[in-house]
Amino acid sequence: MSRLTAIILAAGKGTRMKSARPKVLHEVCGRPMLSYVVEAARAAGAEDIVLVINPEMTAVKDLFNDTVSYAYQEEQLGTGHAVRIAEGLVSQTAEEVLVLCGDTPLLTGNLLLELIGVHRGRQAAATVLTAKLDDPTGYGRIIRSAAGTVERIVEEKDANPAEKAIVEVNTGSYCFDKKALFSALAQVGCDNAQGEYYLTDVLPIMQDKGQLVQAYLVPEPMLTQGINNRVQLAAAEAFLRAQIRERHMLAGVTIIDPASTFIDASVTIEPDTVIYPFSILEGNTIIEKNCIIGPSAQIKDSTIGAGAQVCYAVLQEAQVGPGADVGPFTYLRPGTVLAEKSKAGTFVEIKKSYIGPESKVPHLSYVGDATLGRHVNIGAGTITCNYDGVNKHPTVIEDGVFIGSNTNLVAPVKIGRGAYTGAGSTITKDVPTDALGLERAEQKNIEGWAERRRQKALLRKNP
Ligand code: UD1
Ligand code: CA
Repeated sequence: MSRLTAIILAAGKGTRMKSARPKVLHEVCGRPMLSYVVEAARAAGAEDIVLVINPEMTAVKDLFNDTVSYAYQEEQLGTGHAVRIAEGLVSQTAEEVLVLCGDTPLLTGNLLLELIGVHRGRQAAATVLTAKLDDPTGYGRIIRSAAGTVERIVEEKDANPAEKAIVEVNTGSYCFDKKALFSALAQVGCDNAQGEYYLTDVLPIMQDKGQLVQAYLVPEPMLTQGINNRVQLAAAEAFLRAQIRERHMLAGVTIIDPASTFIDASVTIEPDTVIYPFSILEGNTIIEKNCIIGPSAQIKDSTIGAGAQVCYAVLQEAQVGPGADVGPFTYLRPGTVLAEKSKAGTFVEIKKSYIGPESKVPHLSYVGDATLGRHVNIGAGTITCNYDGVNKHPTVIEDGVFIGSNTNLVAPVKIGRGAYTGAGSTITKDVPTDALGLERAEQKNIEGWAERRRQKALLRKNP
């Protein structure tokens, strides 16, 4: 099989996005749209990928680093010019070149494989991926010969009324024979309505040389949809999200209400997990089997162990162990690790802490920079005072400790194995193993005080 290089055009400014960010870096289901195109090209067998970008798009380089090569187009002189700039970076051994646009995130590797298959099947010089659209406005129209081959493509701005009536359009993806492409491209001029070098003008040149120029009509036009504005961005997002949910459901995940469930492309979910409404699963999140997620869980870059439960909670870079219980109304911040069968309950915030197996932080607590052993019970209202305004300090709570309600643990501090703290204590010193740490003014009861107060009040009212 011959070697394939993909050239992905992404230098356009994308002005209709009205954004400071390059268009191709806008995200669809949590990933920049350009990364979908790169992935589709790779899945179709492209060994080398050349991105044509504007030199100012440094963020694109940060994203792909040296996994692709970059051709810099300073002035957008047209798609033909963009491909010509990439020529020097196309591998010497490549025989075929895919040309794709960076703003078509719904393209799939399978669709490109079909395009390449049709191209190879007839040893064409060029195979254009085309689509029939209800509203072809804005796209280049496909002018077919009587034999069905492609004679040329006419841009909207150069089209006459009869040409504008054609509903088969150029999607902007092509498979080319490398030699045929670059020799025709050298002959392309810019004598057209936009004064641009049109890539599509290689087609009639090839045609004149007796080379085959054909089209492959896409079975599902949505897959080739380009994103020019944020309305189209939202439509692509909705399309891809629906596919992601469907993939998970067919793989054994119950999604109670697909319409209110949002799952990023990069999320993994194992079978027999149930997702309740209003849940958002983002980034590199992994949810193991038999979990109950939601309602209203927003989970990003986190791992949820088998059989765990997370409801009404926000999780970021957290690890929840098997059988653990999170929520309702819980905030787990980066670096939180809940070991198996532990609990983070109602109105609890945990940051950068390890909660040992079967340990519980059930209500109204802040736990930060803490390490808890196993079977620890944290009373309601307990706060780790981990920050002195300058530095963060650790709290260590060993196995079997019972922290009384409303304890302040002023870090750095350590509570030894099996120890207790008295409710309401502000603990500033380490508590030894099996001790009770108590810091509380002694209670005094003043007999008859309330009755005397009531009498005084009565006297004031009726002197
Ligand atoms: C082009 C096609 C048109 C097709 C449409 C599909 C040509 C002449 N026309 O239209 O037939 O229906 O795509 O969307 O090719 N780009 C560069 N450098 C440039 C110009 C464009 O990198 O100088 C990139 C853009 O970033 C974009 C892609 O090429 O990713 C297509 O450019 P765009 O301006 O959107 O397409 P048109 O030229 O309008
Ligand atoms: Ca244009």
